[in-house]
Amino acid sequence: MERLQKVIAASGVASRRKAEELILAKKVMVNGEVVSELGVKVSEKDEVVVNGVKINREEKVYYLLNKPRGVITSTNDEKGRSTVVSLINDEKRIYPVGRLDYDTTGALILTNDGEFANMMMHPSNNIDKVYVAKIKGILLPSEIMALKNGVLLDGVKTSKAKVKVKKVDKESNTSIVEITIHEGKNHQVKRMFEAVDKEVLKLKRERIAFLDLRGLNSGEYRKLSHKEVSKLYVLAK
Ligand code: URA
Repeated sequence: MERLQKVIAASGVASRRKAEELILAKKVMVNGEVVSELGVKVSEKDEVVVNGVKINREEKVYYLLNKPRGVITSTNDEKGRSTVVSLINDEKRIYPVGRLDYDTTGALILTNDGEFANMMMHPSNNIDKVYVAKIKGILLPSEIMALKNGVLLDGVKTSKAKVKVKKVDKESNTSIVEITIHEGKNHQVKRMFEAVDKEVLKLKRERIAFLDLRGLNSGEYRKLSHKEVSKLYVLAK
């Protein structure tokens, strides 16, 4: 059990002092009844409404998932396909931060913290996303330069990228290429390769900032630590 004003403050809708004022002004309801005195304590199960709006009392959680192929990056799917959210054993209303295509594998963060999600997805942030693509064909030096300097997607140039050719297989006419980008436009990596006439056969996101997939097999996930979450805040700001 916790004091009502503390619970309201923790949800972020008001400071503790302001929460006390709201309680005294009869603006706070617990389980449908107006509370007008200070000192009331509530449990996790109690519904708290401030100024007519239910407050979010969920503890904030952050997961790193190694997304398998054939899973949709969404909270639900009309076609009944399994979603990244359904892979995580947590009743909270978590959702993916950004998206990976149905056939793309690798690192994906999920959370119920909207502020964190917005910050991570903001186009101006500095979060490296490292992808490894298996592509059809072999990149020419001019094509590598184009990918590095930016290619046009819908008339807008992509920002600078790092590109490393890891392996070339002349026999099968395929290459393995590591590409690091900051942005997260729809199908960005596939479309960047398309812009230089290369088809992506397989795509994996190996890293988001300092978060790699060490210790996580396909479909496995882990919670991020407080330290990791704060580090992401620092990088993104
Ligand atoms: N770029 C893509 O094309 N697909 C993804 O899933 C992620 C980045």
